Amino acid sequence: MEKFIIEGGRKLEGTVSISGAKNAAVALIPAAILADDGICVLENLPNIEDVKVIINIVRQLGGKVEILGNDTVSIDSNNITSYKATYNDVKKMRASYYLLGALLGKFNHVEGIYPGGCNIGDRPIDQHIKGFQALGAKVSIEHGIIKVHADRLVGNSIYLDVVSVGATINIMLAACRAEGQTTIENAAKEPHVVDVANFLNSMGANIRGAGTDVIRIKGVKSLKGCTYSTIPDQIEAGTFMIAALATRGDITISNVIPTHLESISAKLAEMGADIDEGLDTIRVRCDRRPCAINLKTLPYPGFPTDLQQPMTAVLSAADGRSIVTESMYEGRFKHVDELKRMGANIKVEGRAAIIDGVNKLTGAQVTATDLRAGAALIIAGLMAVGNTEILEIGHIDRGYEAIEDKFNSIGANMRRIRI
Ligand code: EPU
Repeated sequence: MEKFIIEGGRKLEGTVSISGAKNAAVALIPAAILADDGICVLENLPNIEDVKVIINIVRQLGGKVEILGNDTVSIDSNNITSYKATYNDVKKMRASYYLLGALLGKFNHVEGIYPGGCNIGDRPIDQHIKGFQALGAKVSIEHGIIKVHADRLVGNSIYLDVVSVGATINIMLAACRAEGQTTIENAAKEPHVVDVANFLNSMGANIRGAGTDVIRIKGVKSLKGCTYSTIPDQIEAGTFMIAALATRGDITISNVIPTHLESISAKLAEMGADIDEGLDTIRVRCDRRPCAINLKTLPYPGFPTDLQQPMTAVLSAADGRSIVTESMYEGRFKHVDELKRMGANIKVEGRAAIIDGVNKLTGAQVTATDLRAGAALIIAGLMAVGNTEILEIGHIDRGYEAIEDKFNSIGANMRRIRI
């Protein structure tokens, strides 16, 4: 067990480099299973727990995964013969649902552990199942195992009732070797959806329209290995952008795609930040107390739910009243009770948090209840007067690479302590 201790009140200044995107990586690695021959080399993967877990699952399935450097792995899936992803590791991460689409696409069968709930609220997979069924699969759930079986997968038209990143990617995975054409309507447009489509196309798939709300997939006979580089992490970048406002700092964030950050830049500018976009950098400066804003989380290109929690932290000491509406996950306000320990004045009413900015937060012992709640507490700790101790930081390590090193390199004082 480990914890973070953060000495608050330091202005952050300097340049920090962003790692590959977690939510792309956890889909690209299962996608590599679809290669019928050749080896996939994935570059710019983040060095985080979720990536280690999914690599381990691919190995348990019989895949040969070699670590070629800090951020590169090769995946040889030629020896994968099992379509049963029922290992304990599968339970550890929700994104293991991508094994369903990938193994179904490869073998026409898959058996996997039914993805569990999560501490940010109800996370159904009915749209994933609807997609698999539309491609001709039969789906049953028995004793906690989801079994998906098709004699043959045949392309079809699928309208998603909710815009779902997971369902969009899972249907792409299952459909790229199906017979004929699959159309996904009301598809998610997130950058990592586009990244997975680009990777599959580099493997020989025929996917058009990723990044719009209609994706067309023409089934191909086989897929082959290729070398592919993961996009930068939009949410990690956004976390450092928010930290610039929280500490009245001046941070240049490098290795980013600025267009992926537009909704974040727009809200931070409304709060009083100066934003300068370069080709693959973004500089965020703020030399005054940020002002209150209203914010609603939405599917891309709207403001991402994954940054709602860090934003709530910075708004808790902004000038005025902010209303933050969480439209994706009803349970994504667990960090609020922790922020209150630090002096925040926040009232949660249903899906909205009403935040009256206080003059200062004060350091306290707090607990990370989930990944982005952990990021929110880091932001709060950086702003607070005195020391903040964050417990249960395993949640943070799931999705942020070397986070204390990155923050310390721009002037924070953040220590990881074994307990
Ligand atoms: N939904 C359904 N039915 C489904 C699928 C989703 O009703 O079959 C609903 C969800 O309950 C939610 C909304 O649709 O209200 C969107 O869910 P989505 O499927 O897009 O989320 P996800 O694929 O399960 C991914 C990220 C999350 C991120 C969301 C939204 C991965 C591995 N996870 O989850 O990331 O919050 O998209 O952008 O890509 C995180 O990184 O901290 C994280 C939780």
